[in-house]
Formats: sequence, C-alpha cells, structure tokens
Amino acid sequence: MRARTATNARTKKYRLPVRQAILERRTYEAPAEGRWGKVRLDFNENTSGCSPAVLRALRGLSGQELAMYPEYVQRTARIARRLGVLPAELLLANGGDDALRVFFDMFVEDGSSVLICEPTFPMYRYYAEIAGAKIATVRYDAEMRFPLPEVLAALKKRPRVLFIANPNNPTGTLIGRAAIRAILQAATHTAVVMDEAYAEFSGFTVLPWIHKYPNLFVVRTFSKAAGLAALRLGAVMARADSLQLLRRAMPPYPVNVMALVAAEAALADGATIAKHVRATVRRRKTFSAALTELGVRVYPSAGNFVLADFRAQGPAFFAQLGRAGILVRERSKEIAPGFVRISIGTPAEMDRVAKQARQFANRVGGGRFS
Ligand SMILES: Cc1ncc(COP(=O)(O)O)c(C=O)c1O
Repeated sequence: MRARTATNARTKKYRLPVRQAILERRTYEAPAEGRWGKVRLDFNENTSGCSPAVLRALRGLSGQELAMYPEYVQRTARIARRLGVLPAELLLANGGDDALRVFFDMFVEDGSSVLICEPTFPMYRYYAEIAGAKIATVRYDAEMRFPLPEVLAALKKRPRVLFIANPNNPTGTLIGRAAIRAILQAATHTAVVMDEAYAEFSGFTVLPWIHKYPNLFVVRTFSKAAGLAALRLGAVMARADSLQLLRRAMPPYPVNVMALVAAEAALADGATIAKHVRATVRRRKTFSAALTELGVRVYPSAGNFVLADFRAQGPAFFAQLGRAGILVRERSKEIAPGFVRISIGTPAEMDRVAKQARQFANRVGGGRFS
C-alpha cells in the first residue's frame, strides 16, 4: 500500500498530451483472437488458404534478404503489370486497412468532413474518429440498396473524402457504372475512394476510370481472394498525379518484403485465385438457397459473404453456432437484431452451418425461421 502511494505521488506530475479525438473515440473493438481451429466465417478470409506457389516463394527468401530494408521498384512494377496499371498508378500499403488510413493523412484535418454510406466496413468511421473528422452518413435502405440520391445531395457539401465499399461489406450490394459515374462527376471537390476489396468476387471494377477521373482512388487487398490476410498487403490505384500526392503521406518502408514476394507469387498463379472465386460464387448461391428454404432472408451479395436476417430467433441461433465452434459476424447492433454476415468458406464449412440452421429450425420453429 505504501509503495503504491509513493508511486502515485511520483507519477502525478505527468500528464500525457493525448489528442481530444482519441479520448472521444467510441468504436474501438479489439481484434478477435483465438480463432485458430474454429470454422472462421467471420472475417471474409479465404478459408482454403493461399496458393502453394506463395509458400514456395516465401521459402525461397534468404536471411540476407530479410536483413535488408525492402526495395520496391522492380517488385512494384511487376505487381502493377499484373493488376493492369502503370507503376506510377500503384501505391502499396500494409493491408487495405493501412491503404485507407492514408486518405486521412492526405485530405482530412481536425473538423473537416468525410462521407460514409452505412452499414459498411467500420474502418472508415474508425479512422475518421481518430482524425477528429465530422462524419456525414447516409444509409443503405431496408432492401440494402445504395442510397444514390442521398449521396449526390451530400456531395454538395463537399466532404473531403467519400468512402464506398463496392461490393459493400456487410450488405453485399454492388453499385453499377451509371451510379458511380454520377458520383464521380458530382464529386468535384471530394476524393472518391472505391474500396474494391471484394472485386474478384463481383467481377466488376472501375479501375480503368482512374485515367478519366483524378478524384477516383481504387483500393484493393490481397487478404480476400488471394488469401494473404496474415501478410497484410493492400493497394491504392489512381491517376499518377493524384497518387503522387498520396505518396507524400507515406512512410519510406510501408510494406514488408514477404508480402511483396507473396503477392507476386499469388498473382502469377492467377488460375488458383480464379478457381477459388468461381467455387465461392457457386457456393454463395447454394448456401443462400439453403438458408432461404428455411425461411431466412438472404440479401443478394457480390462478395465472398452473405448478409442474412434470421429475425427474432437470430441471436439464439448465433449463440448455438458459437457453441459449435462456428464463427460468424453478428450485425444485430449495426442493422437490426437477427442480422448476421456469414463468409463463404469451403463446402464442408458451409454444410456445417446449413446443418446447424436446419437443426435449430426443427427444434424451435417447426422447420423454419420466422
Ligand atoms: C471493404 C473492406 N475494405 C478493406 C478491408 C481491409 O482488408 P485488409 O486490411 O485485410 O487488407 C476489408 C476487410 O475486411 C473490407 O471488408
């Protein structure tokens, strides 16, 4: 007791000068741990794992190479070629998360506003809160349709950045060309970030439009279709002059060499990614049909996940899944009780979820969720 009092007295004169925005942060969630060995349908990972070509490439790295600060020019040029852009149009970052953070460093000052379409990927709000930004929000409607008129109206106030996940996580909504064109034309004083983390699964991208619109920034990740979530590699693609400004906000070594080597190997083995995408899209359809048959409302999705509404029985069912070691992402708080996002995993994983759903429905609802 005496010792503690003495320490307090000694440390009392120190006060860390923490920014107000950090003290006021509300949405911090510690990352999930202890997921190994469970059925991981909660983070939209590629649960089949990455291409064996990636593991071979990583084994080929030498101790000398790991001891050296990474060099980027040649590897970035090769990755750019695979993605279909020029090296000057590509910026690599430590995961899609970090790629998104750069927009705040570049565009957002204390009090400036950003526009977000919710429910969506929480990192946009997360960074906005850290930056002390004003957060303007519009919402997807009850059918999970994109609120285009509201976005166009909100752009009149000239937010610094507009974030759109396309397809959107967690709703699965995909916005088409006409809507995106209208947004890009209206956003004359706004950076438009099209977060295409799931583009491989939607088969849709506006990447070629970077040449036409200096306000367009396309974000991608290697965490989903390529199966490299542990290595943390994300990308921003934009017109060279726009990207040049973004580079000013980057540290000198944002990406580690293993991530680069892995990304190159993954892209070189495009057949493995394509096979995974085809199988996932097929399974998304069969899994959605299985749930629909049980009376669950499943929203159309263009990603490697589906948003489903299990209504009143949802929370009890999700608890049952948890007890069975099946992880899913409950969205009751963000949307409404009973909503959940379920990633599309392997056939065995999806069969386990469908079986649990059937058992639950038989036990509680006469074979159906209602
Ligand atoms: C829409 C969206 N953008 C970006 C990311 C970030 O992915 P990562 O940081 O793993 O590259 C995710 C991950 O879930 C996402 O859903």
